[in-house]
Amino acid sequence: MHIEKNTNKNLQSTECQIDISALETIIKDCKGVSGGLIPLLQRIQDQFTFIPPQAFKLIDKELNIPESESLGVATFYTQFKLNPTGKYTIKICKGTACHVQNASKIFDAISEYLQIKAGETTDDQLFTLELVSCLGCCSLAPAIMIGEETYGKLDDRSVISIIKEIQSRESK
Ligand code: FES
Repeated sequence: MHIEKNTNKNLQSTECQIDISALETIIKDCKGVSGGLIPLLQRIQDQFTFIPPQAFKLIDKELNIPESESLGVATFYTQFKLNPTGKYTIKICKGTACHVQNASKIFDAISEYLQIKAGETTDDQLFTLELVSCLGCCSLAPAIMIGEETYGKLDDRSVISIIKEIQSRESK
């Protein structure tokens, strides 16, 4: 498992609209099952794309794991998100190979075009922007991922064309 300390996470202060019964089912399924909190949080995130704030109270109530503990784990690991993410997560590589190939220009172009910063989601819930370490395809630098697709050898124009194509596809 990739483990990276989470240093840039804003906690949601209000509860959000989710299917509580789906959340309850996941948590109750884990009653009496050993294996820990991380797989449970992963299952919750798989269901909702993030860990809704209600999850921490329910985990406390159903599994006797204090909110402070589950919240502590969720905020520590970068893999866990505490806010809803867009349909597509755009991961912009900030690794060395991409950095020297002007990855910051790619980031600036996307950020300006979509009007969001790293960690934010567009109002239409289509895109979330993330800065990540090496994507493992340095020969394609500067590289990004949009959803499950990897794109490389980009410049600030080509990356915006790709995003426009996705927007156009999604608007049909
Ligand atoms: S440094 Fe960007 S893919 Fe490796």
